[in-house]
Amino acid sequence: MKHVALVTDPESLPIDFDMDLLTDACVAQGVQPEVVEWTDPSVPWGKYDAVLLRSPWSYTKHLKRFRDWCARVDAQTHLINPLAVISWGLDKTYLKDLEALDVPIVPTEILALNAKIGDRLQSFMEDHPECNELVIKPTVGAYSQNVGRFTRQNIETAIQHVEALFATGHSVIIQPYLTSIDERGETDMIFFDGHYSHAIRKAALLMPDGTVNVPSTDMRSARAASPAEREVGVSALKAVTKTFGLESPLLYARVDLVEDQNGAPVLLELEISEPSLSLPFAPGSPDRFAKAIANRLISNDFAGTDIQQSTQGVGSG
Ligand SMILES: Nc1ncnc2c1ncn2[C@@H]1O[C@H](COP(=O)(O)OP(=O)(O)O)[C@@H](O)[C@H]1O
Ligand SMILES: [Mg+2]
Repeated sequence: MKHVALVTDPESLPIDFDMDLLTDACVAQGVQPEVVEWTDPSVPWGKYDAVLLRSPWSYTKHLKRFRDWCARVDAQTHLINPLAVISWGLDKTYLKDLEALDVPIVPTEILALNAKIGDRLQSFMEDHPECNELVIKPTVGAYSQNVGRFTRQNIETAIQHVEALFATGHSVIIQPYLTSIDERGETDMIFFDGHYSHAIRKAALLMPDGTVNVPSTDMRSARAASPAEREVGVSALKAVTKTFGLESPLLYARVDLVEDQNGAPVLLELEISEPSLSLPFAPGSPDRFAKAIANRLISNDFAGTDIQQSTQGVGSG
């Protein structure tokens, strides 16, 4: 029987609502799953046929250690998704790489560490007269950590937020606050082995009073993605395949979209490292994922996880 490690950590497992459904589905597909902590130094990673990232979400506080851990595991067995893809996907500067490949994204400006903040915020607002509010967030982050929303009138507070992020070693993203999210929420689409599986609606998380909600399950509900949304999802995944020269689709991926001011879907986030998959919202989705895992393991077909070409953009941040 093939053996797969499902990677988490002690603080994230309690909020990983996919794990139980996935372990049961793996067993039903004839794959032996084991829930393992990436922070546990005693684990002999080489004993697994594959090591699949599920919820190692404490990595945001230990980025270098996590990147080193991924490289160590990759040297011993099949890391899923592939190492270079995971590494690139941890840092939202990938949005600019995808934009260059014609994937429609939320208008995004990156402030490298210690860039001139006031001037850049000013020129961003001049370039985006349509937006009344800005979003500022770290390039590496998850679970809405350190994401803030600021009005044009409140630019001093925005500058302080950027300074605070710089002080902790983070580069920063500036985006217009896309108000469609207040009405329509965001659409998170989940793909297994390149095939669309399901989607959820996630309610807006940044409240006008400055409260930031976490994306807990009560913020989510089942939703069918529109053809236009699915098209953007496929284009984002194709861009990844092209960038990394992959022979097969990614085993798992999540594509998060919001609508721009014209109602067109644009990419907010591409979750290809360690996404929450909202399996509880889509009956059948745990089986679809487990089948995709079993197919890779049983056929021992990891061609899609071998890097064939250059890995541009990898290792930033
Ligand atoms: N440009 C934006 N416009 C409107 N809401 C945003 C924008 N950027 C982020 N948000 C809100 O903040 C949440 C967290 O931001 P996101 O970019 O998804 O980072 P992460 O989930 O990695 O913390 C989103 O789910 C969304 O509710
Ligand atoms: Mg998000």
